[in-house]
Parts: sequence; structure tokens; C-alpha cells
Amino acid sequence: MGRLVIHGGRPLRGIVTVSGAKNAALPAMAAVLLTPQELILENVPSLGDVATIRRLLGFMGVESSDVGPGTVSLTSRAVERCEAPYDLVRTMRAAVLVLGPLLARCGEARVSLPGGCAIGPRPINLHLAGLQQMGAEIDLVDGYVMAKAPRLSGARLAFETVTVTGTENLMMAATLATGTTILENSACEPEVVDLARLLKAMGARIEGAGTSTITIEGVEALTGARHRIVPDRVEAGTLAVAAAITRGDVVIQGCVPHHVEAVTAKLREAGASVAVEAGQMRVRMAARPRPVDISTAPFPGFATDMQAQIMALMAIADGRSVITETVFENRFMHIPELVRMGADITVAGREAVVQGVPFLRGAPVMATDLRASASLVLAGLQAGGETLVDGISHLDRGYERLEAKLQSLGGEIRRVEG
Ligand code: EPZ
Repeated sequence: MGRLVIHGGRPLRGIVTVSGAKNAALPAMAAVLLTPQELILENVPSLGDVATIRRLLGFMGVESSDVGPGTVSLTSRAVERCEAPYDLVRTMRAAVLVLGPLLARCGEARVSLPGGCAIGPRPINLHLAGLQQMGAEIDLVDGYVMAKAPRLSGARLAFETVTVTGTENLMMAATLATGTTILENSACEPEVVDLARLLKAMGARIEGAGTSTITIEGVEALTGARHRIVPDRVEAGTLAVAAAITRGDVVIQGCVPHHVEAVTAKLREAGASVAVEAGQMRVRMAARPRPVDISTAPFPGFATDMQAQIMALMAIADGRSVITETVFENRFMHIPELVRMGADITVAGREAVVQGVPFLRGAPVMATDLRASASLVLAGLQAGGETLVDGISHLDRGYERLEAKLQSLGGEIRRVEG
């Protein structure tokens, strides 16, 4: 764990490769519960949340092993425990992704309610309502979801709010249900599309992934498959902002530029040069960024997971920006820490008004959640003096060797234990 020590002011230059997407690897690993055959997943990032879901799946009886760099083999021959205990779920909300597959495979599940987290209450009511409409009996007992369904039945489900893991949970549940399931107002995130690609490779019948209406024709059984996890668009966006905030010149390889378009469009508006080629993009910034207004939204809108990072850039912009967080209730905890570094940011409800300052000052700061950690690292790379980022266990949940990647680009950043 430890903390990061950063001496800012150096432009990042060079070439860096993006890892596989955390938010695609997690549902892909949960999908192993849908089949007794082996799944081979490639490009799996080595980070905290992946280790956590591996522990959870192991608790259920899933065998997993590393069979190559970033390649994991998982087999769920028989599900020994249809349960996700609180001590694992509380550390990672995405553990709720085992609920749909467990119900589809075993007809029952006992999954701890995730509880809230730093960025909001994070309810799962839409997951549960969808499973009930598919015939599941759902009770909440002592903080656990107790679910039973001898066989789920296809249904037409309309999400009242776009939910990424809700879409993924119900899509997985529907693959083994009887009949047809239609998911309306589905999430269109690339991670949903990647999961659908995997499920189809396993024999599922899915149409419309990536659009707001997904149709799943239930089948009797699914097979194993080999699948390569899609690149992490949030890491790609974070590295692009790192290039811009340090007035650097960075080639980001192994990414899908189309998945980061909302971010790169805002970087161009702020004055960055972004050259896109197949599988990579080059981000250059020669001057102080111009202010840009941003409002987060589900894909293809500006990702909420990039809001904290772009705010660090706007903190040094040449003017006033308004950043609106429409997805989560409480995703501004990076702001007090940026203010400690000299940023001028005021919050009114879901809106943050950022009055850019010419430069930030290094300071000891505390990370409160995954993307807030990234925001403070980016601010530290720009700030004069030394920045100490504490609480980086949050960062380690969602980024693979971020400080090593930034060091390789010339960033003066190192981890100190203790
Ligand atoms: C996924 O979380 C991501 N996590 C999050 O990334 C991401 O921020 C979020 O989608 C939005 O893009 C994974 O994919 C593992 P939601 P998820 O359900 O699915 C409300 C990161 O930094 N809602 O799309 O949990 C909810 O409160 C993480 O990598 C309900 O009301 O988010 C929120 O306001 C953080 N009821 C909105 O919907 C429900 O049943 C969107 O949440 C479900 C969600």
C-alpha cells in the first residue's frame, strides 16, 4: 500500500500501453459461473478488484490459475457455495455481478447487499427488480439478498435509470432463462459490449449490445471460451489527461480511441492536440489549457469515471469551467484535496465551479476513492514542489502499475511503503 511521492513540473513524454479494462474483467470473470467448462481470459489487468473477485469466486469453488502474462484460466465445475459474503462484497460493489449468474446456474443465491461507498449509496434495486420480473423470489434478510428461482423466465425489462452492472447482471441471468428477455434503457458502455462478446462466444444468443435495447434468447447451456478483455478506456483517458496537464507529448498504445472520444473531444476544446490512429492516440499540449464546461453522462457521454481527472486539468485552466456530476450523488471528494493544492473550486449541489489558477502547489493529500486518487496524482504531476498522496489502496484497486507507467514517461513519482 504505502503512499506516492510526486515532484511535479516535468512534461510527460514517450509511449505507454494501456491495460485491460477493470470494468470489463470483473463481469467476464463472474460469467464463469454460467458454465462448467473452462474460460480463458486474456489481457486481464493485475489489480486489486480483480484479485478480490478471484477470491470471491474461489470461495464459491471456482478454480483459477495464471496461464500466461495477463491470462487467467477459470473453471466452475460445480458451484460449492452459492454465496457472496459481506466481508468480500463490502470491499467491492461489483461483487453483486455474481448474483445473476448464480441464479441462472444454481437457481439460488445469497449475496450480501453492497452497502454504500464513498461516491454514493450505490443501491441495487434495479438489479433485484429485473430478477423478480424474471421469476426470482427475492428477500432481504440480515443485509443479504436471498434469491431463489428454479428457472428464470424471459421478460421485457425497462431500467428506470441506466445501470452498467444492472445491465450486465440481467444480461448474464437471461442467457440461461427460458424464452426471450428484452432489456430496455440498457447501458451502452464498451464493457457491456465486451461482456456480450464473451457470452456469445460461450453460445449465448444476444443482439443489440451497445444499444439501449438488448435482446437475449435463453439457451439450455453455455460452453467455455477464450476471450481478450477490451482495453481500459478510463486508464486511457487518465493517461491522456496526464499528458495534457504536464504539457507533454505522449503516445497511448493498446487503446480503443473511439471509447475515449468524449474525453479527447474535451481535451481538444481545451487546446490539446489529439492525433488518433488504429489502436493508439498521441496527446500533446503546448500551453495552459483553456476552460471547458463538462457534464457527465452514460456512454457515449463524458464518463463519470473521468470527472475527477478532468477537474485536475481544469484547475489550472485559463478561466472558469463548470463541471456537473449527473451520475453519482457524492463524487466530489477530490475537491477539498485539490483546494489544499491551491485549486479554486466551489461546489453547489451537483455542480463544481472551477476558477483556473496558473499552477498548483505540492501538498500532502488523502485519496478517498479510486478516481479521486487518480485526480490527485495528476495534480501532483503538475504542481510545483512535493505532493504526498496517501490512501493509495484506492488507486491500486483500479489501476495496474500506474506509477510505473508514469515513471516510464519521465514523471517523478515513486511509492514509499509505510
Ligand atoms: C459501474 O458501476 C462502474 N463499475 C463504475 O465504475 C461506473 O462509475 C458506473 O458504472 C457508471 O458508469 C463497474 O462497472 C464495476 P451504475 P455501477 O449501476 O454499475 C444508480 C470505477 O471507478 N443505480 O451504472 O455500480 C446508481 O446509484 C467505478 O471504475 C440505482 O439507483 O453503476 C447511480 O446513481 C466506480 N439502482 C446510477 O444508477 C441500481 O440498482 C449509475 O450506477 C443500480 C444503479
